[in-house]
Amino acid sequence: MSLRRKLVVGNWKMNGNLAQLAELGPIAEAAREAGGVDVGICPPFTLIAAAGTRAGGLMIGAQDCHAKDKGAHTGCTSVAMIKEAGARAVIVGHSERRTDQHETDPEVRAKAEAALAGGLVTIVCVGEHALDRAAGKHEAVVSSQLDGSLPDGWEEGELVVAYEPVWAIGTGNVATPADVTGMHGAIRAALVARYGDLGGRIRILYGGSVKADNAAELFACPEVDGALVGGASLTAEQFVPIVEAAAPS
Ligand code: 13P
Repeated sequence: MSLRRKLVVGNWKMNGNLAQLAELGPIAEAAREAGGVDVGICPPFTLIAAAGTRAGGLMIGAQDCHAKDKGAHTGCTSVAMIKEAGARAVIVGHSERRTDQHETDPEVRAKAEAALAGGLVTIVCVGEHALDRAAGKHEAVVSSQLDGSLPDGWEEGELVVAYEPVWAIGTGNVATPADVTGMHGAIRAALVARYGDLGGRIRILYGGSVKADNAAELFACPEVDGALVGGASLTAEQFVPIVEAAAPS
């Protein structure tokens, strides 16, 4: 059995409202009952504070942060701000931000470094596009994203890597266990090469069309330490079975 406890994080993206926070209660209860698994939800910024009051042991996180503490950055939110709102974690470098906001590896690294310095569980996302995989370049692309996006000289705080193949996000096209095993093995090797023994402690999450009916198979793959879940994290009905599948049997 892996020494790393599984971590299942829901990324609500630009979805949800105050009423939807009612989903947190049953999710938290299921997480407590399942035991042995860490569970988080990353709602939009506007819901973080309210989510914190209903977290019931769930780790509440943000979906992005700015690398700077404060300043003239209209529309941006700093690590200190999301922490004050109640966030204990943050996702950085999601492929949707890399595409929509043109975020680069150096920007993602700066955010990751700021988040770790602020004591947040820091989830750095990587993942190839369909064309990269078709060309057999998926491992090279992900390795280059890891090189450029992970913090330099990391020793303290909790760093998590999420492998999210872009072609699997929101498409229903989940990566096969063979794809996932191959990539997670390559990511683990890169982490150990970069950080030594500490690289063995980093949890590597899979993301991309994780659902109740494929979660157990994905969690059984070597080096899969949990999941980053989009659509299926929006309701307790769909998310709870994924949490349960991650719990040690
Ligand atoms: P889906 O689970 O909706 O495919 O989204 C995955 C994702 O992008 C999580 O960050």
